[in-house]
Amino acid sequence: MADYKGKVVTITGAASGLGKGMAARFGEKGARLSLADLDAENLGRLEAELKGKKVEVMTTVLDVRDGEAVDQFAERTFAAFGGVDYCINNAGVHSMGTIWRIPAAEWKKVFEINVMGIVNGIRAFIPRMMAQDRECFIINTASNAGLQVNTGIAPYAMSKHAAVSVTESLAVELQAVNSKIKAYVFCPGLVPTGLSYNSEKIKDQCDPYFETESYKKLYAYGARLLEKGMPMDLAMDRFFAGLEADDFYIRTHDSEEEEVSYRVRMVLERKRPAPIAK
Ligand SMILES: NC(=O)c1ccc[n+]([C@@H]2O[C@H](COP(=O)([O-])OP(=O)(O)OC[C@H]3O[C@@H](n4cnc5c(N)ncnc54)[C@H](O)[C@@H]3O)[C@@H](O)[C@H]2O)c1
Repeated sequence: MADYKGKVVTITGAASGLGKGMAARFGEKGARLSLADLDAENLGRLEAELKGKKVEVMTTVLDVRDGEAVDQFAERTFAAFGGVDYCINNAGVHSMGTIWRIPAAEWKKVFEINVMGIVNGIRAFIPRMMAQDRECFIINTASNAGLQVNTGIAPYAMSKHAAVSVTESLAVELQAVNSKIKAYVFCPGLVPTGLSYNSEKIKDQCDPYFETESYKKLYAYGARLLEKGMPMDLAMDRFFAGLEADDFYIRTHDSEEEEVSYRVRMVLERKRPAPIAK
């Protein structure tokens, strides 16, 4: 097992769900944590919990859409801890609906958080991590949705395909310059978290689209599916197992292999994907 004692770990979207699960596990393993989130209240609560367990932790309230704020987060972390071993760009939101009905502002928001949030993390942390000139790791949270054909969640799926793609490019470009930084893309399947609830909090509350019956039905369906997901503890076991096995695509759910191979088959056979039977 890898030794995380004293290692410095940064996590965005750390106040809830998978980010919080990672923070707790890294903390248990003796890592020092620099955590960021939009949600000041939950972040403050987590900081207190971790400090109660004697974990060394600092927190930053930020919006990953704001490149300057992410740069300052990196600056603060390097100043406080003297370096970064694991940089985890994890903040994200969900989004659902029929493609041609979803408001333009919703598409923009999801892209800016789920994709540009990661790009902002890469731009802020990679140059500083390169300057350390030692082995270190960057992990971007995408989703199994970024590996397969999806339905009813187009903004989310688009953003997660982009998150996978940017991390693949990053991995290749880092190797091309013989960098000591290793890139990974985390592609979990469903895990019960605050994703549905938290994503609702930052949607445009005034847009009548979100008041339609079809949207409300879809939202309730999505929230129910999430609840039936893999328990967080098991998802974290899989996350650390993937990381330690040096899996570039860190996956949690074997059941999704069929959906990943379906997409690849459609590409190779030049076929139009059909609606997914659930
Ligand atoms: N839960 C799942 O089933 C699942 C599956 C695949 C991928 N993911 C991905 O995992 C990541 C974490 O999601 P989660 O399921 O733990 O949800 P979550 O809502 O429980 O946690 C996400 C955290 O990100 C924060 N956040 C959202 N927008 C932000 C912003 N602009 N700036 C800073 N922080 C922001 C939220 O406040 C929240 O604390 C996301 O990228 C999500 O897409 C989740």
